[in-house]
Amino acid sequence: MDLSVILRTVGSLALISGALSIIISLSEMVLNNYGTVELDINNGDRKLSVKGGSSLLSTLAGEKVFIPSACGGKATCGLCKVGILDGAGPIALTEEPYLTQEDRASNLRLSCQVKVKTNMRLLIPEDLFNIREYLCELEEIEDLTYDIKRLYLKLPQDQTINFKAGQFMQFYSRPYGKIKEEVFRAYSISSKSSQHDHVELLIRLVPNGIVTTYVHTALSVGDTVRLSGPYGDFYLRGDAEELIMIAGGSGLAPIRSLVYEVIEKGLPHKMRFFFGANKLRDLFYLEEFARIEQEHPNFKFIPCLAFPEPEDNWQGETGFVTVALEKHVDSGENREAYLCGSPGMLDACIKILKDKGFPDSKIFFDKF
Ligand SMILES: Cc1cc2nc3c(=O)[nH]c(=O)nc-3n(C[C@H](O)[C@H](O)[C@H](O)COP(=O)(O)OP(=O)(O)OC[C@H]3O[C@@H](n4cnc5c(N)ncnc54)[C@H](O)[C@@H]3O)c2cc1C
Ligand code: FES
Repeated sequence: MDLSVILRTVGSLALISGALSIIISLSEMVLNNYGTVELDINNGDRKLSVKGGSSLLSTLAGEKVFIPSACGGKATCGLCKVGILDGAGPIALTEEPYLTQEDRASNLRLSCQVKVKTNMRLLIPEDLFNIREYLCELEEIEDLTYDIKRLYLKLPQDQTINFKAGQFMQFYSRPYGKIKEEVFRAYSISSKSSQHDHVELLIRLVPNGIVTTYVHTALSVGDTVRLSGPYGDFYLRGDAEELIMIAGGSGLAPIRSLVYEVIEKGLPHKMRFFFGANKLRDLFYLEEFARIEQEHPNFKFIPCLAFPEPEDNWQGETGFVTVALEKHVDSGENREAYLCGSPGMLDACIKILKDKGFPDSKIFFDKF
């Protein structure tokens, strides 16, 4: 075939595909233009006029109504449930794994998966209206281990925070490198609940993780960090004589806050804190917890190393934290358990606790 024919054919194809993409984007603009939509919250208590077209989660955030979310809207955490009486449309496949029979009966939906297209009637717990947004200054950032950083963030001068020990904040990373948009994830507060002008977070680097890579490589002292919170129902119930606390890695964060809450409020509970790690290099805050143990006879700290190195010269418990749990906790009688760490570790510990007689109602956890 002659070259000019080939060139003409390629040119025509390029023109057609260009025209098609313009038609597609124009039709998307028309189809996604839902205009202004009315959101009725809690039977008329609040009414919002919003632009349709985005997820309910981000639409509400735009109106400063912050719904808990750990995964940033990827339908992998199941935390963003909201009651939708009208206007939600059918349940999406991505929602299915997270909605129990009770959730469905209560019209709960994952707000990150529901698009705002039409007027909606919503049920949102009143507590969530107390959640605030904070533009914090990063006052300190330091390595606690090779992969965990401690962030100490100062709230704006005119704002304070009230949270229950154990709760978490949403942390918003800025665009960096190939990441072109703001992304948010959940981080438990490790500071004392009596501290109202700063929050401390402990963030472990997840290889290729968007937010943790931002924290570990792009964040420096003096930077402004956007947080919202507090969120979550992992907090002290305190309806037992002894609290069994179990953490792995950065799961220590909310447990630290819980330990201080019990101490500062002068609560009578005994506490035993099992902290699991692989090697000595994964342990941190050892001196602080050893000091608390010395000063407060009600508190016992039990760090456990699964794979100590000979040079670690480790004198403490060896084996997985489950081994120590089996050895030191005889029954669930008059005890509550608070666990925070990876799903695998928590599932193994929860099984042991249940075998020892802890009822579900006395086991509280955040898995991450
Ligand atoms: C209630 C709650 C509290 C939390 N508190 C803390 C905390 O105090 N400190 C802390 O460090 N983290 C905490 N997390 C986890 C945190 O929210 C993020 O999920 C985590 O930091 C990864 O975010 P990322 O954006 O870096 O990774 P993403 O970009 O979300 O993930 C990148 C890749 O890594 C995988 N991945 C994600 N998370 C993990 C993981 N933990 N281990 C292995 N692979 C993973 C994903 O499947 C994905 O393939 C908490 C989570 C919840 C739900
Ligand atoms: S925000 Fe995580 S499932 Fe909706």
